[in-house]
Parts: sequence; structure tokens; C-alpha cells
Amino acid sequence: MQRSWRQDADKLTFIVCRPTPTLTEKSDSPENMVGDINLFLRVDDGEDGDSPPQIVGEIELMIAEKINQRRGFGKAALLVFLRYIIKHQEEILEEFVSRGVEAKMAEKVRGVGDLAFECLSVKIGQNNVRSLALFGGLGFVKLSAEPNFFGEFELRRTELGVQGVVEGLAKAGVEGYGEAGYMRKE
Ligand SMILES: CC(C)(COP(=O)(O)OP(=O)(O)OC[C@H]1O[C@@H](n2cnc3c(N)ncnc32)[C@H](O)[C@@H]1OP(=O)(O)O)[C@@H](O)C(=O)NCCC(=O)NCCS
Repeated sequence: MQRSWRQDADKLTFIVCRPTPTLTEKSDSPENMVGDINLFLRVDDGEDGDSPPQIVGEIELMIAEKINQRRGFGKAALLVFLRYIIKHQEEILEEFVSRGVEAKMAEKVRGVGDLAFECLSVKIGQNNVRSLALFGGLGFVKLSAEPNFFGEFELRRTELGVQGVVEGLAKAGVEGYGEAGYMRKE
């Protein structure tokens, strides 16, 4: 991961790699990389800024090459990413509110109560059947029946308990969720 990506408080970027039998420094070498998954954080406070501020996390997922698509990587990556976000919600949002938004907005957000995502969201082109099926199958629901001006649907997941994701991982046969420290040398 590039250092600058890690330093942004309003963005989380993970590279999706093929599973390897054991985790080594080479697990995330270029030949094992298949795509990336990102979370962009923002505060919604209505058009006129008069609604209570809500923190929204927008997900973007890509499995880059056709040869690696439809092999379960997208679904596995999304599930483990959700697991990570939900598990680390507090620290991700603390960093975002401390460093990623203006002081006035930070104060407004903290005034609402404990820091928590209102929802996780994704925007998908109306013809992207696979992605719509992927996110739809994992609890993301369309905000409206018609696509927006840019031909995209926005889907949101508001159920953000750990249990639902753990069950999703088990159902998809994704085993061995773990977190490892960053091993690459500078
Ligand atoms: C969309 C994308 C992320 C899906 O990843 P993937 O690794 O190809 O998908 P998976 O093999 O994990 O399949 C996940 C789900 O997609 C759906 N799916 C897969 N192939 C499908 C097809 N041909 N038609 C309809 N749905 C399909 C299924 O719901 C599947 O879940 P299931 O196995 O439980 O049935 C990937 O194809 C991609 O990066 N495409 C280009 C970029 C993009 O469209 N990004 C999404 C915008 S956020």
C-alpha cells in the first residue's frame, strides 16, 4: 500500500490478493494481486446542512482482469472488508472525524452521540448485473427503483452488526479471517 493512501483519514484502501497457504512478505507481491477495494468516508447533513450529520462509507470494489472475475474473489473481498470495517468502526471514524473533516463539522458530528456509520453505500451502473447481484445478495438495498442521472443505482446496507457478516462469511465458505500487520519494508 502506498504510504500516502494510508495517511488519508477519509479513505481506506486494500489490495485484494489471491489466498496463499501461509502469510509471508510475498503474499501481496504483484503476481498475487487481483484487485482493490476502497472505502470513502463522508458526512451527509442534507442539502441545506440543516439535518443531523450522518457518516456514510462508500465502497468501491474492482477485480481487475476478466480471468480473475467470477471466481469468488469479489464476494470474499467484500465480506472480509465488511468484517474489517465493522470491527474497526470506532477507530476508523475517530481518525476520520479528528483529521478528515473541518473542526466545525467534527463538533457537529460528535454532538450527535457515539461515532457510528449511518450506512455503507455503493454506486453501481444500472447494467452491471454481476455487481448488483453481489451487493444485493449481501444485504445492500437499492435506495430508489430508478437509476440516478448518471445511470447508477445507489445501494445501502444499514445492518452493521458483526454477526450478520460472520454468517455471510460462513455461508460463502470464506474461512480463516485474520488480520496481519503490514510486513513490507520501506
Ligand atoms: C463486479 C465484481 C467486483 C464482482 O467480482 P467477482 O469476483 O467477479 O464476483 P464473484 O465471483 O465473487 O461473484 C459474486 C456474486 O456476483 C454474482 N454473479 C457472478 N457472476 C454473475 C453473472 N454472470 N450474472 C449475475 N450475477 C453474477 C453472484 O451473486 C455471485 O455470488 P454467488 O457466487 O453467491 O452467486 C467484478 O466482476 C469487477 O470488478 N467488475 C468490474 C468493476 C465493477 O463492476 N465494480 C463494481 C462497482 S463497485
